[in-house]
Amino acid sequence: MQIPNLKEAGKRTNNQIQFIIDDYEIPDSLKGLGSGKKYFIKTYGCQMNVHDSENIKAILEMMSFEETCVFEEADFILLNTCAIRENAHNKMFGFLGRVKHLKESKPHIITAICGCMAQEENVVDSLMKKYKWVDIVFGTHNIHRLPYILETSMARREQEIEVYSIEGDVIENIPVKRDSKYKAWVNIMFGCDKFCTYCIVPYTRGKQRSRQPEFIVEEVEELVKKGYLEVTLLGQNVNAYGKDLEEKTTMGDLLEKVAKTGIKRVRFMTSHPWDFDDKMIEVISKYDNIMPYVHLPLQSGSNRILKLMGRRYTQEKYLELVDKLKSTIPNLALTTDIIVGFPKETEEDFKETLEVVKRCEYDSAFTFIFSPRVGTPAAKMEDNTSLEEKNRRLQELNDLVNTYANKKNQEYLGSVVKVLIEGTGEKGNLMGYTDTMKLVNVDGDSSNIGKIVDVEITDVKTWSLDGKII
Ligand code: 5AD
Ligand code: SF4
Repeated sequence: MQIPNLKEAGKRTNNQIQFIIDDYEIPDSLKGLGSGKKYFIKTYGCQMNVHDSENIKAILEMMSFEETCVFEEADFILLNTCAIRENAHNKMFGFLGRVKHLKESKPHIITAICGCMAQEENVVDSLMKKYKWVDIVFGTHNIHRLPYILETSMARREQEIEVYSIEGDVIENIPVKRDSKYKAWVNIMFGCDKFCTYCIVPYTRGKQRSRQPEFIVEEVEELVKKGYLEVTLLGQNVNAYGKDLEEKTTMGDLLEKVAKTGIKRVRFMTSHPWDFDDKMIEVISKYDNIMPYVHLPLQSGSNRILKLMGRRYTQEKYLELVDKLKSTIPNLALTTDIIVGFPKETEEDFKETLEVVKRCEYDSAFTFIFSPRVGTPAAKMEDNTSLEEKNRRLQELNDLVNTYANKKNQEYLGSVVKVLIEGTGEKGNLMGYTDTMKLVNVDGDSSNIGKIVDVEITDVKTWSLDGKII
């Protein structure tokens, strides 16, 4: 049993991280452990978690488990959790109620919790006290250990907890079962050292660790060979890529190498305004296969609040960067994340956020009410704004964001854009995304799935476009 420790998780040392580059193998004795059994995974949170679930699926299938989308059919139920805000916690605990119910009628079911919540000391504490029937808890640093953890749990049938509160390693070659045949998530780095005062990620994902560029390029080259058209390079803070490697390199260098593999579309997320350098902007504008789309979290437009958040930039610096991006990258789509109701945020601070939104005219924005996370500095800050007021600010912000989202989409009416057709949408039509990450519902036949096609935009909504293949 290894339980998480918040203090340890927040530590940063100069210790060298381990690069584990061996092929991933499991003993023959574990290869049949899941034979005749089905697994069900529910994934919460960001793309990093989605990709972790793709790794977990491949590991389980190495053990002969078979995937099911029907929760009631499963012999192994795994919740891959998110810790970013309280409502992610609530959703997970809500679903756990359903799992408990099912387990009462089918006691042989094995249940597991992994992901960011599993890294939280207070959560695991409560799983140990109040949810003893949850069989397995493992963290973000030891996904590769799942076969061994499962074996122990199946043999002992006691709660098995294995969570490391360490800075983390880089483990190459974990197998992957990708959800899509056309677009792929590719991790370029793990963890985060920014320690924004509201954020739990540096504790749940560990120290910033970049993958070596040659492994990333090799992975993309393999994807190209398999017919993939799009990669999204993933990290909590991709602009800081390479700073922690012994042989220093930058995100600009990496983007250029990935673009040169010839993959049709390259995306990256998430950016931090602080590390966004000129080389990176230059490379994005130089290569046609690097998509003109940047997600650039603002969080707040007020310098006072940005300082309290530990964001290390000012409103002026942020706007300077946006101006540079817009003037250098033609047809740029810009999106953002904004938090309202941060401790001590006044109406004036909030108004400054609105002003920045007006200046930036975002294509869209993810907006949140501040949610205190146990163990982070902001959770201890005095917060005297009422929930009612926070909700009002959120509403006002959303109204403004929607105005610009709509305005930006209107500009597409009548134009012809390239869309990667990914599959069929809810209404049976085709769906896909433009290079600028606009969702398009497309009239056309299914032979277009998996192709990048020219689409004429015939109608416009706030959050999507309609079009027909020409
Ligand atoms: N409360 C509210 N929003 C948060 N985010 C991160 N931590 C918190 C928190 N404690 C938001 C930020 C980040 C996005 C992924 O989630 O805007 O960019
Ligand atoms: Fe969290 Fe992003 Fe800040 Fe890192 S840079 S601490 S992941 S908000």
